[in-house]
Amino acid sequence: MSQPRTASQSLPSTVSVEHQCDVLVIGSGAAGLSLALKLADHCHVIVLSKSERNEGATRYAQGGIAAVFDEDDSVESHVQDTLNAGAGLCDESVVRYTAERGKECMKWLINFGMPFDTETTPSGETRYHLTREGGHSHRRILHAADATGQAVQLTLNDAAAQHPNIHIFERYNAIDLIMQKPHRKRCIGAYVWSRNQEHVEVIRARFVVLASGGASKVYQYTSNPDVSSGDGVALAWRAGCRISNMEFNQFHPTCLYHPEARNFLITEALRGEGAFLCHADGTKFMHKFDERADLAPRDIVARAIDFEMKRLGADCMYLDISHKPADFIVKHFPTIYRKCRSLGIDITRQAIPVVPAAHYSCGGVMTDFDARTDLENVYAIGEVACTGLHGANRMASNSLLECIVFAHAAASHIQTHLDQPFSSQTIAPWDESRVTNSDEEVIIQHNWHELRLFMWDYVGIVRTNKRLERALRRIQLLEQEIDEYYANFKISNNLLELRNLVTVAELMVRCAIERKESRGLHYNVDYPDQLDKAEPTILTPPPRRPGLTGSLYT
Ligand code: FAD
Ligand code: SIN
Repeated sequence: MSQPRTASQSLPSTVSVEHQCDVLVIGSGAAGLSLALKLADHCHVIVLSKSERNEGATRYAQGGIAAVFDEDDSVESHVQDTLNAGAGLCDESVVRYTAERGKECMKWLINFGMPFDTETTPSGETRYHLTREGGHSHRRILHAADATGQAVQLTLNDAAAQHPNIHIFERYNAIDLIMQKPHRKRCIGAYVWSRNQEHVEVIRARFVVLASGGASKVYQYTSNPDVSSGDGVALAWRAGCRISNMEFNQFHPTCLYHPEARNFLITEALRGEGAFLCHADGTKFMHKFDERADLAPRDIVARAIDFEMKRLGADCMYLDISHKPADFIVKHFPTIYRKCRSLGIDITRQAIPVVPAAHYSCGGVMTDFDARTDLENVYAIGEVACTGLHGANRMASNSLLECIVFAHAAASHIQTHLDQPFSSQTIAPWDESRVTNSDEEVIIQHNWHELRLFMWDYVGIVRTNKRLERALRRIQLLEQEIDEYYANFKISNNLLELRNLVTVAELMVRCAIERKESRGLHYNVDYPDQLDKAEPTILTPPPRRPGLTGSLYT
């Protein structure tokens, strides 16, 4: 595991900027901004965003948000569908807790102006248009055409920007949590790196909330933006939190396959509205893999595509919705229509070339119903957390729902503890006196590419013991190099992300090796069967190494 930078307390530090707030939120996506908005009437909140404030997975969400709005639907049905998708590993009480709060959370979002699509019923009433996705037995996905995430992000950001108690620090990376001496169980803030000023600052806080999103950037091919580098999981692990279920990486079955398209998703809602998967000659195949055919849960569809591509030696499979009326397609899927059109594919007449890509991290930092982690004053919400909702496979559109439900839960808990005093402990400024500018950025670039490539090849949709062991050996070598690099050279965004990615990769591989079965998203050819009893994989951080005096241990 990556070790913190060692620093001598006696040497002068280069910079010493300290901020203070009640709540420090690491991440400005759906989870982080929902929490900030819930708390801002009661306290002062700083929200960190590693890039521009609206950049994160939230912004790219297409399909929508699952919540029970239809009279023929029920919370019980949402619960059962989620449990089925999760392959026996969901925590049923968490699933119920989440599904029960779906409608009230969506109303909260709508009150900020969230523009979900509506339709007019035959009797002239206006109601929300609900679409369908894999695993859902009912229409229950609220959406804003095929760009739901963009609307969520902008709605929350507009509200946050107007609140005097919310301060968004853009282009700031959280490096590590600062733990109070001597027990180091209580968090008192974080070291953060300003990308613009290229120096490290301290943010002292009563509470720290990890809302830093997922880790799919650990794979060569992903639907995720660059910021999804698993920072929150790595930070939490280094500070002492247990991490769970990291072997369950969700691969979205349908990302656009085109040399000029990077990370572009083709929403599952297309299949919900009648699209089907097929070979280049139009032959359908999903019925051979599951009786739900194109609406089977994601793990089954991604594996089926992978199987067919390997069997036929094909570069991609195809998704066809061209049998639907053109005006229906353009109205429901304007973003996809425009994107494909710009690449010369007319989806009203042609099938879309698609491949699977890493999409979502089901595992993460272990949390309880209040989103609390193992550390005092540290919470985790959104994709960084492992609440127990998704089990071995997340059902489509349950993620944005989870972001909001658990943001509200964490906010309620924090609000009732706001009388807690700030720690009076002195925090040592970051010591950069012994590091130099790197003259070999190429090493970071190379390690970055190497890691993501072997994770794709060895820890992908289908795994074997041998490939997992091989991946672990390579990760350990990379960790040594990255540790050395981190100890000697000045920080950069790429270096911070690489350090976190390699930690997250190790956690994924170790969880995958520990699981001696195939379940949900984790398929190992050497253990093809599912065991009778479903157990989460839980990793506990090793005790702190004696002798380290790095900034992390002030
Ligand atoms: P994000 O929205 O990813 O935000 C993470 C934030 O953390 C960013 O602001 C980032 O800058 C910041 N950050 C990260 N590390 C640091 C650091 N070290 N320091 C400071 N800041 C940091 N889910 C659904 O429910 N429905 C959908 O239709 C859907 N479609 C999707 C489509 C795509 C293409 C993708 C990629 C995902 C989709 N998902 C969908 C999943 C869902 O979008 C994400 O799980 C969810 O948006 C995660 O929200 P979040 O707030 O946890 O993280
Ligand atoms: C999609 O629109 O297909 C993505 C939905 C999700 O990831 O929940």
